[in-house]
This record gives sequence, C-alpha cells and structure tokens, in this order.
Amino acid sequence: MRNPLPPVPGKLLELEVSDDLRRGTPLATLIAAPSEEDGDAGLAEIGGVRPTGKAGDVQTVPAGRVRWLAGVGDGEPKQYRKAGAALVRAVSSALEEDVKAGQKAFRAFAVELPEDAGAEHVEELAFGLLLGGYRFTVTAEEPKPSLRTVRLITRHKDATDALDRVRELAAAAAFARDLANTPSNVKTPAWLADTAARVAGGIPNLTVTARDEKWLAEQGFGGVLAVGGGSAAPPRLIELEYRPRGATTHLLLVGKGITFDTGGLSIKPADGMHLMRTDMAGGAVIIAAVRAIAALRLPVKVTGLVPAAENHVSGSSYRPGDIVRHYGGKTTEVGNTDAEGRMVLADALVYGIKKHKPDAVIDAATLTGAMKVSLGVRTGGVFATEDALAERVTKAGERVGEAWWRMPLLEDLAETVQGSLGDVRQAPGGPGGIVAALFLREFVGDVPWAHLDIAGPARADKSYADVVPGATGFAARTLVELVASYA
Ligand code: BES
Ligand code: ZN
Ligand code: ZN
Repeated sequence: MRNPLPPVPGKLLELEVSDDLRRGTPLATLIAAPSEEDGDAGLAEIGGVRPTGKAGDVQTVPAGRVRWLAGVGDGEPKQYRKAGAALVRAVSSALEEDVKAGQKAFRAFAVELPEDAGAEHVEELAFGLLLGGYRFTVTAEEPKPSLRTVRLITRHKDATDALDRVRELAAAAAFARDLANTPSNVKTPAWLADTAARVAGGIPNLTVTARDEKWLAEQGFGGVLAVGGGSAAPPRLIELEYRPRGATTHLLLVGKGITFDTGGLSIKPADGMHLMRTDMAGGAVIIAAVRAIAALRLPVKVTGLVPAAENHVSGSSYRPGDIVRHYGGKTTEVGNTDAEGRMVLADALVYGIKKHKPDAVIDAATLTGAMKVSLGVRTGGVFATEDALAERVTKAGERVGEAWWRMPLLEDLAETVQGSLGDVRQAPGGPGGIVAALFLREFVGDVPWAHLDIAGPARADKSYADVVPGATGFAARTLVELVASYA
C-alpha cells in the first residue's frame, strides 16, 4: 500500500545567500511603498508595471530582468515577513502555471534585497519565504515540480550567520505543523513517539525514550491512563533528553499530547470536532523545539516530556465523577472528561520535576477554549509564577515574531480547584484559562513555572504573517529562543 501521508518532517526550501545574480534565474525585487517625495504619481514603473509597494502585494512583470515586484510597505522588518510569504506563494503559482503551459519548470528563484536591509530584515524575509508556502496535503496526485531554492541577493555580511539560526527555527515551526496536521487515524500516541525518536536520531547528545501503557501503570500515571483508557490506541510518555557537555542550567519542557480530543463521555459537539486532531500541538512544539535546540547545540540541558493519549469514547472511558490518582499520589475529582489536557499534564509535571529537578519548567498546551475568547487566535497566553520568567517568554516571542500576553494566576480563585472528595477539583467552572492554570499549579511545587495556553494561535483559518491555514507551529520558535536566553 502506498504511504497515505507526505513525509514528516517535510522538506523546507533551500535558502542561500549570494552577492551575484546568475543569469536565467527568475528574479524578484523588494519595493517600499511610495513616500511623500514620490508625489501623487507614486513609484516609477518597472517593465510597464507601476509598483504599489504595499506589504503583501506581489505584482508580475511581463518582460524584463525582474519577474516579480514584492511590496514591503514602510520597510519595517515585520513587513519583510509578510512580503516573503506572499512572494513565495506567488512564485509557486507561477511555477505551476509554467508547467501547465508546457514550459520547463524553474526550481530556483532569487530575491534582491535593498541596500539598507539589515540582518533583521533578512531574518524576517527568510521566515516568510521558508514558512509562507508551507502546505500539508494528502492526495492521490503525483507530486508536481516545486520550488527548491531561494537565493537572497544581499551584501549584508551577517546574513549567512543569521540564516543558520532562522533555518532551524523555521524547521522547528514546520515540523510542529507537520505533526499537528497529521490526521488522527495515523497519529496514534505510538506514532507520535516513533516519529519523535526517528527525527531525533543522529543528533548528538539527544535521546528519546518512549514509555508504554504497562510502564505508565507500574509507575502510577493515573491521569494519562484515565484519559487514554477509552481509546483502542494506548497512551505513551515521550521523553526527550538533550545533554550537552558542560551545561549547568536544566530546563523541563512539557507538552500536551492529546492525539485526538473527542471530549470523552463529556463529548464535544460535532461542529468543529475534527479540529481536535491538532490537540497535541503543545506536544508537537516541544518535540520540534527540543530537536532544534539540539541541532543548534545550545549549551543548556533540556528535557522534553510529552504525555500522549487519545481522549475517546468507549466502555473503558473515564467518567465524570471518577477520582483519579496522579503520579506522585495526589488525587483529582473529575468534573468533565473534556478537561483531559490538565489530567495528563499533571502526571508529567510531577514526574519531570521529581526526576530531573529542573531550574525552571515550561508547559505548552491547547488547554482551554476560553483562551480564544480572552486573546483571540494570534496571541498565546502566558501564566507564570515569576515575573522574570513571564518576561523571558514574552521577550523570546518578540524576537521570533510570536505574540504573548501575560495572564494572571488569580489567588482568589485558587480555592475553587481544591477538592472535597479528592485533593483537587479538575473543572470547577469560572474563567476557563485561569482555573486550568491554577489546577496545574497544584502539581508544580516551588520550581519556577510558566504555562503557555496556545489553544488560540496553535491553528489558523486564515493566512497571516508566515502562517497558513491549519496548524501553525506557534510556540516552537519562542521555546527555542527562550532556551537560548539561558545559554
Ligand atoms: N482541547 C480543548 C481546548 C480547545 C478548545 C483547544 C478549542 C483548541 C480549541 C480542551 O481539552 C477542552 O476541551 N477544554 C474544555 C475545558 C472545560 C471542559 C473545563 C474547554 O475549554 O471548554
Ligand atoms: Zn478536551
Ligand atoms: Zn483537549
């Protein structure tokens, strides 16, 4: 049988820096929007086309040396990301048209940068080019010729170094997208574990261990087993260990790995349930970030933990009203089986903290629909027990173009997660994102901890910046940059 899926991870475009133009390579040029000095007539024509310069506009020039004009608006670095994304999409469809018209497919194109473009502009453009054309499709069609290489024409001397970092960051985002976009009929917890192990293979100082349901039962991972108990595909705990020589700081990254979330017996409405195949997006960004951190050889010890389970409906599903004993012994009164993410994270947090004694813990999870109401779908929520850690996350996000907003761990709500039959109450009502975070806090003790609720930005239904519809890989780049900040 043919493999029904594209390879995971998929291949990124090759990105090269060059200061000379090769003849015959189709060329794009970047154009800033007209300034006041340009007057009402706007910009001068190029090959009979008057450029708009608007960021995200790509105009085709029918004849001449330059084939595309890509607007960069006011020339701020952010606009370069938008321009790169729009350009790579326009060039890809031009390639498709050429092939349809029976012409030879070009596999490379070049982009000429303005003289004044700095390292930050190069990085932003590269993110746009590498991720803006991202696609994940499963089809019967034979793969068509596609773009292979982009050449950046710039004399900027730091461009090559900047690109080495950007390439890994973009690869992390794309890999996280691949994992989250993979349909759940393929993506069992075991598949996720095998894929993590395969992709980590050959990277120095990185090892991946997958624990099965038998080991989880012996060790008392009651949350993972309760949630995974309703599925024919048993749960796994994926542990990624990156141990560079000489590193002193040790960070623990934990990601929600729900490979599909039906809601369990507290079943979700049919509308939109299919979107829950990306409910392991938090786990995906942890796997992708740890891989990138190791590939970049960052001098920080990192452990990634992904409790992976499918939240399904069957005779062996866990029930509302159950009392579940987590790893380490604490018990939770289940109120709603659809609040499964916190059940699996609780086990993993206690286990990871006890085993590794990390200097800080960060978890990432598509935890609550409430976060979409609070912050919309382009901003992640950060809950943190320490101001400095919250700021580190937000700043790391700023450096890679991911937006974060700090959310409060409101003390007056802390008592709502206290149990009456068990130790803690899982779904007490009240502001959803906040009480979920307060629930998790019961399992972290004194170690500095940040919780990233990415339920909103983990997926997109529209293109923006370098994001395309589907899984976004949101947080992968922030996590790599965050770990780099401890180097
Ligand atoms: N996976 C969902 C949260 C979610 C919703 C992510 C929409 C992305 C988009 C999570 O497991 C869930 O269902 N949470 C419930 C919790 C409630 C039952 C306490 C929620 O947010 O409604
Ligand atoms: Zn749920
Ligand atoms: Zn969920």
